[in-house]
Amino acid sequence: MSFPRDISWSLPFLVLVLVTWQPPVTSLKHKNMICDKISECVCRFPTGHSINLTNLASTTLNFNDTKDGLVYYLNPCGQAHTPCSNGSSLCVLEEKTNHTTDLGPMNASVFSTQGMFSPVYLSYEISDLTTEIKLVCSDKPESILLLDTDIDDLEPSAEPKKYLLLQSPEACLKDADAFSDNSASNGLSSGAIFFIVLIVLWCSYILVGAVANHFLRGATGWEMIPHYQFWKNVPTLFMDGFKFVANGCKPPPSYEQI
Ligand SMILES: *[C@@H]1O[C@H](CO)[C@@H](O)[C@H](O)[C@H]1NC(C)=O
Ligand SMILES: *[C@@H]1O[C@H](CO)[C@@H](O)[C@H](O)[C@H]1NC(C)=O
Ligand SMILES: *[C@@H]1O[C@H](CO)[C@@H](O)[C@H](O)[C@H]1NC(C)=O
Ligand SMILES: *[C@@H]1O[C@H](CO)[C@@H](O)[C@H](O)[C@H]1NC(C)=O
Ligand SMILES: *[C@@H]1O[C@H](CO)[C@@H](O)[C@H](O)[C@H]1NC(C)=O
Repeated sequence: MSFPRDISWSLPFLVLVLVTWQPPVTSLKHKNMICDKISECVCRFPTGHSINLTNLASTTLNFNDTKDGLVYYLNPCGQAHTPCSNGSSLCVLEEKTNHTTDLGPMNASVFSTQGMFSPVYLSYEISDLTTEIKLVCSDKPESILLLDTDIDDLEPSAEPKKYLLLQSPEACLKDADAFSDNSASNGLSSGAIFFIVLIVLWCSYILVGAVANHFLRGATGWEMIPHYQFWKNVPTLFMDGFKFVANGCKPPPSYEQI
C-alpha cells in the first residue's frame, strides 16, 4: 500500500527548517557580555559566538619594538619559543642586556571584553606586570603582533601596563554554527524542541487517526487521514497567507478591493 503523498506532510518540516536555520541573533539585551574562557586561547560568548586562536598554537609571534630595544614573543595557546622561559606564553627580551622577562605564564590568560562583542582583550598578569593584548580581526591571512599605540585608557593605573595588539584572521568572531561538533552549542534551541514536539504530536495524531479511521470506520486511502478536508486545504491556506504577507499584509491584487 502506498502512503498518501499529501503536501501538508512537508509543511511542518519546512517550519522546522525555518526555525533552526536562523541567522545569529545580533540585537542583544546584555551589552557587556563576558567571553567565557573555554581553553587557553578560546573564549565563547553566551550567544555561541567565539574567538578561537587555536590555529596560532604552532607559531610564536614576535614584535620588534626597535624604539625601546625590546622584542615581544607570544604564543597565545601555549609555550612560546626561546627566549621565553619554560612555561611562558608571553615574554619580552631587552636586546641591550639580553635579559628576558616573563610577562605571561602559560594557562594564565584572561579574556575580557569592552562593548557588545569586541574588542576582546587577552590579558596576562605576573607580579604587577599586566599586559593587555587587543585582539583585532583582520582579513589579511598573516597574523601580526604590534604595540597598541592607540590606547584610550581612562584611568591610568599605577602599575606599569603594556598594551599589545594582535591582528589576525583568527581573532575574528566565529559564529555559533562553527561549533557543530562539540559541546559549545547546547544542542537545539528551545524553539526547535517545541516544534519537534509539535511535529511528533501531529504525526502521532495523523497515524492514530488513520488507524482509527481504517479499523473503526472502514476508511481507506486518503479518507484515513483524520480531518482530511481540513489538512487538504492547509497548503492553500498557507500559500494565501504567504501571498498576503509578501504583499505587505494587504490582500493580493487578485482579491476584490472593497
Ligand atoms: C578551535 O578551532 C580549532 C581548529 O580550527 C578546532 O579544532 C577546535 O575545536 C576549536 N575549539 C573550540 C573550543 O571550538
Ligand atoms: C630588532 O631590530 C633591530 C634593529 O632593526 C635588530 O638589530 C634586531 O636584530 C632585531 N631583533 C630581532 C629579534 O629581530
Ligand atoms: C618544562 O617544565 C616541565 C615541568 O614544569 C618539564 O616537564 C619540562 O621538561 C620542561 N621543559 C623544558 C624544555 O625545560
Ligand atoms: C597548561 O595546561 C595544559 C593543558 O591543560 C597542560 O598540559 C600544561 O602542563 C599546563 N602548563 C602549565 C605551565 O601549567
Ligand atoms: C642571550 O641569552 C641567551 C640565553 O638566555 C643565549 O642563548 C644567547 O646566546 C644570548 N645572546 C647574546 C647575544 O648574548
